[in-house]
Amino acid sequence: MQKILLLVFLLSVPFFTTMAQAPLQWNQIAAGVWSAKAGTPDKVNFYTVTGVHPKTERLSSMASVEFPLPKDEISAVIRDGKTYLRFPLTKDEKIFGLGLNFKTVEQRGRILRLHVDHYGGQDNGRTHAPVPFYVSSKGYGVLINAARYIDVWVGTAVRKDSKNPPVARDRNTDKKWSSAPYSDNIEMLVPAEGTEIIVFGGPSMLDAVRRYNLYNGGGCLPPKWGLGFWHRTPTRYTDKQVAEEVHQYEQHKFPLTVIGLEPGWQSKSYPCTYEWDKSRFPNPEGFLTDMKQKGININLWFNPYVSPDGELYDKILPYTATHTVWCGVVPDYAMAETNKIIGDHFMKHTISKGVSGFKMDENDGYDNWLWPDVTLFPSGVSAEQMRSLYAMMMQKMTTDLYHKQNTRTYGLVRGSNAGASSFPYVIYNDYYNHPDFITALINSSFIGVLWTPEVRSSKTAEEWLRRIQTVCFSPIAMIDAWSDGTKPWSFPEVEKQVQEMANLRMQLIPYLYTSYADYAFDGTPPARAMNLEEGFTPQNIIIEGQLSSTENPYATALKREVKDQFMVGESMLVAPLFTGQQTRKVILPQGKWYDFYTGKFAGEGEVITVTPGLDIIPVYVKDGGIIPMMPAVTKISTEKLPVEIRVYGQKESSYNLYDDDGVSFDYENGKFVRVVLKVSKDKSGKLKGAVSIPKGASLWSYNEFKWNFMTK
Ligand code: GAL
Repeated sequence: MQKILLLVFLLSVPFFTTMAQAPLQWNQIAAGVWSAKAGTPDKVNFYTVTGVHPKTERLSSMASVEFPLPKDEISAVIRDGKTYLRFPLTKDEKIFGLGLNFKTVEQRGRILRLHVDHYGGQDNGRTHAPVPFYVSSKGYGVLINAARYIDVWVGTAVRKDSKNPPVARDRNTDKKWSSAPYSDNIEMLVPAEGTEIIVFGGPSMLDAVRRYNLYNGGGCLPPKWGLGFWHRTPTRYTDKQVAEEVHQYEQHKFPLTVIGLEPGWQSKSYPCTYEWDKSRFPNPEGFLTDMKQKGININLWFNPYVSPDGELYDKILPYTATHTVWCGVVPDYAMAETNKIIGDHFMKHTISKGVSGFKMDENDGYDNWLWPDVTLFPSGVSAEQMRSLYAMMMQKMTTDLYHKQNTRTYGLVRGSNAGASSFPYVIYNDYYNHPDFITALINSSFIGVLWTPEVRSSKTAEEWLRRIQTVCFSPIAMIDAWSDGTKPWSFPEVEKQVQEMANLRMQLIPYLYTSYADYAFDGTPPARAMNLEEGFTPQNIIIEGQLSSTENPYATALKREVKDQFMVGESMLVAPLFTGQQTRKVILPQGKWYDFYTGKFAGEGEVITVTPGLDIIPVYVKDGGIIPMMPAVTKISTEKLPVEIRVYGQKESSYNLYDDDGVSFDYENGKFVRVVLKVSKDKSGKLKGAVSIPKGASLWSYNEFKWNFMTK
C-alpha cells in the first residue's frame, strides 16, 4: 500500500511541475521593489504608457526590507492564453486597494472583475480606477502590471492543496458552520498569456503605499491655486455670464481660484471640436486675460470623441478606431501621431492661450457610451487594453504638454488606473452618494489616485453644508454647478457657514501644499485611510449572519468597517457628518488627540461620541501636530503672506513647511525650501517654537511666522 502511495506521489510531482509552467524569477528593480514575469506579458502595460521614472533615490533612503512573502507560495500557471496567479494570505491579514471602491474598504472576502467603468453602485471591480494593486495589513503591496480585465478572488477560493484548509462542517448541527469557509490565498485570472508582477515591501502598510507611489514617479504636486476653491459654471454659460459669476464671488467676498467651463465653451460637443464657440466666447484671448487678471484659472471640460465639424477631424481620422462614440471618432492614443496631432490642436486653441487645465470626461465608460470591446484600433492594441489605459493616455498627453512649457496643471479625470500617482488629475463621477464619496476618498489613498467628493446640488441646507464641509478637506474643493447652477450661497440660511468652510480651506493651504509635497517627494497620500495611520487598530465588528430564505440564504456574516473618517496631511483626522446625523463616533488612534478648533484634549486611543452641531465638521490633531495656516485670502497670488503656526498638545515635535514658486516645475531641479518649524520645551517645561529657514534661502510665499499654542 505504502509503495503504491509513494508511486502516486512521485508521479504527481512532475505533473504539478508541468502545470506550474511559469516559474517566477524575482528581480529587485528598486529598493524594496521586486518584479517577476509570468509567461509572456503584453507589450503594452501601465508603465509603457505612463513612462514614469521611479524615484529610486528616495526609495533607497527608506528602511531596507526583505522580500515580504514566501516566494514558493506565489505561483503562476499559463493555460489557454490566460494567466492563473496565486498569492498567500495569513489568518488575520487584511487586504486593501483593488480599485476605487465606494462601499467597502477592506477587500478580503470579495470577488472582483477589475474593469474601467463608471461606478454603478456596487463594489464589483467596475469602477473609474480599477487599479490591480493591493496592500496588506502585513505591510507589503502587490501590483499586477497587466492592462486587462482581471478577475480577483480575495481570500474566497479554497484549494485542495491549501496549507490551512478549512474544516468541513455540517450546517444541520454545527453552529460553527460558515457560508464562507476560510481561504488562505488571493487568486487572479489575467486574460493574457503572461504578466509582470511587482511586489512592494513595507515595513508598514503606509510604507508599501509610499513605495508604490514612488515607483510611479512620486505623487503629483498641484499648482498652489489648485488647492483653492473651484466652481464649474452651467454648461452653456457665455463669457459674460462667467464674468458675472466671478463678480458675484467677489461681492460675496468668497474665495475662488478656478472656474471650470463645461461642454458649451466648444463650438460643438458630444462629439467635440476643442475649439471655442464664437457666439458664447467671441474673444477667448481677451476672456482668458481678463480672468487671469482677476486671479482666476480656467479649466476646460472635454471628452475624447472628435466631431466631424472641427478642424481636427481630417487630421486625426487615420488614427482613429473602427467605432464611433456619439458619432465622434475615437483617437488611438497608443500612437505617437495621435498625441502629436491632438497635442498641437490643444496647444493652439487652449494651452498657449492660457488655459490652466482640463476636465477629461467620459474616458471611463458606462458601456453604452463607450466603444465596444470588438473595436479595432490602428495601433493594434486591443479594445480591452485601450479601455484599461485610455484615461491614462489622456493624462499622460496633457501632463506632458504642460510639463514642456514648465507650467503645472491640475485637473479632473473620470478614469484612471495603475501607475497614475504622478499625474496631476483628480477623479470625480456622476454618482452622488455622500457617505460613499467619503469611502472613495479613503480608498483612493491605497491605490495612488486622488478623488474629489464634488458638490453639485442638495435637497436641503443641511446636506449642502455637510457636503461642502467634506469637499473642503479633499483634493479639489469644488462646486460642480454644470447642470444645477448652484452657488455657494444657494442656501442663504447656511451661507455664512459655507463661507467659513471655504475660508478655512484657503487658510489651510500652507499645510495642504506641504502634504502634497510629501506626496510628490515621499509618496505619502495627502488624504489617507485610517488604516494607514500608525496606532489605528480597530477590531472589525462581525455581525453573525442570520439564515433567511429571502434575505440571507447562506447566512453570510456582515463586516462593519471604518469608512467615515480619514487623515489629511501629517496630523489631522477628519470625521464628517452626513445629512440627518447629529451624533457620531470617532475612533482616535493611540496617542493623545486634540480638537482642531479649540486645542482642547479630545481623547486618547479610544472611541469618542461627538455632537458637534451643524456648523462644525469634527477635526482632530494628534499630539505634537503642527498646522501652518495663512490668512483667508480669496485668490492665490505672488503676495507674501504671514503664517500662523498652530501647535496642538504637549509633545515636542517638528514640521517641514514646504515652499516653492507654486506654479512651475523648477522644484524638480531643487528650487524649493523646507522651513523647519520646531517645537521644544524650555527649562520650565513650557513649549516654545523656532523657525529655521535654510541659510541663503529666500521664501516665495511667506513673510512672517507667528506661533499659536492651541492647547492651553
Ligand atoms: C458628465 C460629467 C459631468 C458634466 C457633464 C457635462 O459626463 O460627469 O460632471 O461634466 O458630463 O455634460
